[in-house]
Amino acid sequence: MNAHDSEKVIGTLLSQGYTQVAKPDEADLVLYNTCSIRDKAEQKVFHRLQEFKRHNRGKVFGVLGCVAQQEGERIFERAPHVSLVAGSASYAKLPEMLVQLESGNRRVTGLSLDNDQAFETPFTRRDNPHRAYITIIEGCDKSCAYCVVPFTRGPERSRTSESVLREARELARMGYIEIQLLGQNVNSYRDPSPAGWDFARLLRAMGEVDGIRRVRFTTSHPRDFVKEIIDAIDDNPVLCNHVHLPVQSGSSRVLARMQRLYTRDEYMRRIDWMKQARRNISITTDIIVGFPGETEEDFEQTLALLDEVEYDSLFGFKYSRRPNTAALDIADHISEEEKIRRLAIVQEKQRAIQIRRNSDLVGTVEETFVEGYNHATGQWIGRTSQNRTLNFVHPHVAGPRDGATLSGANLAGANLAGANLAGTSWSVRVTRAGPNSLAGEAVI
Ligand code: 5AD
Ligand code: SF4
Repeated sequence: MNAHDSEKVIGTLLSQGYTQVAKPDEADLVLYNTCSIRDKAEQKVFHRLQEFKRHNRGKVFGVLGCVAQQEGERIFERAPHVSLVAGSASYAKLPEMLVQLESGNRRVTGLSLDNDQAFETPFTRRDNPHRAYITIIEGCDKSCAYCVVPFTRGPERSRTSESVLREARELARMGYIEIQLLGQNVNSYRDPSPAGWDFARLLRAMGEVDGIRRVRFTTSHPRDFVKEIIDAIDDNPVLCNHVHLPVQSGSSRVLARMQRLYTRDEYMRRIDWMKQARRNISITTDIIVGFPGETEEDFEQTLALLDEVEYDSLFGFKYSRRPNTAALDIADHISEEEKIRRLAIVQEKQRAIQIRRNSDLVGTVEETFVEGYNHATGQWIGRTSQNRTLNFVHPHVAGPRDGATLSGANLAGANLAGANLAGTSWSVRVTRAGPNSLAGEAVI
């Protein structure tokens, strides 16, 4: 989501006549887009700002994103060389703020959260030529006890389905083949226009956009995750068979204290829907270890859940105290050493699960979209619908020549020597499996 925010900011500034430089050293204006989901990310921002200042006097500095929203004007005290502080709900006003800076104003802020519109800009400068992000909903109305997001990104605002689809068609026209729908909680998407579509309906419509060959979405909250989403995926192969469904903990007691609004059983019901689907749906998750009051027994339940679900991948985090959040008031904070220990156990268990699950795929043929070429290994870098990395060799194309691109050519049998396969798709037979990726060869 942050990466896409940066794309929107860059596009907006380019449209105002700014130019982007390759390295921060070359810039007159340096904008830091920041994350405050965990304390470590936040500390990094101040460290970098300090580091960078030493060699770069005379530049104008701005801090964007969640740390900006959370710390507000305190940033000017901690880092006096910063002149602009703006949270994501204010990005539409960035051009105005920059005009204020240019006219000599030393301290400019954009911290209001009362923006009833999702930030939308036609100028987004996208980093990836084949895959594009589309924000469908901003902010979050949940109040998970550990999470700072509702404070930094404000309340939920959905975009109209018409505006989302217009952007998708435009992207297809520009040659994008894959779209990733974004929101803190895409499942609570609700079309503000009279059509009143829910997320499953929007997903179905996205799967029908001409030219778009893959649609992904992230992130889902289990409470709002309905069976219609699985039905939509089952009905249309354009909708990728991957669902990221953060569970956070396998203990209903901890889930209640986290204010996650579901029990372990309710979560498992959603997992069962996916396991019973016609398509083979890959399931990934987020886990927090060491939430205040998490006992050894609670933790064991998380480990048992990992065995039961057998996730294809997971992001594991040590609980981190965040300002304003309800969990700060819970007693029994867990020691750092214990959190480190629990996280290591989660990761070790998950690694074994992934080795097993990935090796089950050896011998299968997967449709793989090419993202680039790895000169060091001599493999094309690919991704399956399930969001697995599948790197492969191609019998006729040993690597791209500079500037060579392919578009819509008749790939089978064509003379492909030196072609760049990025943006094309191939059937790839999996020949090897590791914990985090697969390797294979194109089936021609
Ligand atoms: N501490 C640790 N992990 C957190 N996450 C969110 N807030 C915290 C926190 N305070 C994790 C959750 C969420 C992911 C994006 O980040 O697992 O799903
Ligand atoms: Fe944070 Fe919970 Fe909202 Fe996700 S659903 S952004 S974890 S408050």
